Amino acid sequence: MKILITYSSKTGNTEKIAKAIHKAVPNANLLPISEIIDLNYDLIFIGGWIDRATFDQTSLTLAKQIFDKNVAYFFTLGAYPHSEHAKDCVNNIETLLKNNNNNIFGGYFCQGAIDPKLISWLSTLPLDHKMAPSEERRQRWDDAKSHPNQIDLENATQFGLNIISKYQ
Ligand SMILES: Cc1cc2nc3c(=O)[nH]c(=O)nc-3n(C[C@H](O)[C@H](O)[C@H](O)COP(=O)(O)O)c2cc1C
Repeated sequence: MKILITYSSKTGNTEKIAKAIHKAVPNANLLPISEIIDLNYDLIFIGGWIDRATFDQTSLTLAKQIFDKNVAYFFTLGAYPHSEHAKDCVNNIETLLKNNNNNIFGGYFCQGAIDPKLISWLSTLPLDHKMAPSEERRQRWDDAKSHPNQIDLENATQFGLNIISKYQ
């Protein structure tokens, strides 16, 4: 059984999750999306970071090229995992994968620290801007800072084990 774990990661959070999944599936090929040669695999774990409520451009482009496969997905996001925003991300990604007739085995996601450069830029926005830093937003950014943490990584490894047990 050929398994691929592939990911896009700008600041390293999603890469950590990919590596944690790889612990559960050590015989899988672990590759950043930029290094994939082909999609000739029995099962593909595809991961990305969230940008505007869906996969970032690199993982989105790949997801659109995967057809008729067994897939599992993972992502990291700045929002809380139990938020409506996280649900939207799940829906958007699952719809994308289902539209290409893929068989989805499951998904995993957790919060990931937000790029400090983005926070600095957001902090310059005028208070009446819709993305201006409210107290609630600042709290969320602060909470995201420690993620993915050890528990997130252990959960990701467990996710990998669950997917493999479903697949076999
Ligand atoms: C340009 C940009 C846009 C983002 N958009 C969102 C978003 O729409 N929703 C969200 O929850 N997080 C968003 N984030 C936060 C990232 O998804 C999050 O920090 C993620 O863990 C980064 O993963 P990486 O370290 O693998 O690049 C955004 C971050 C950046 C830099």
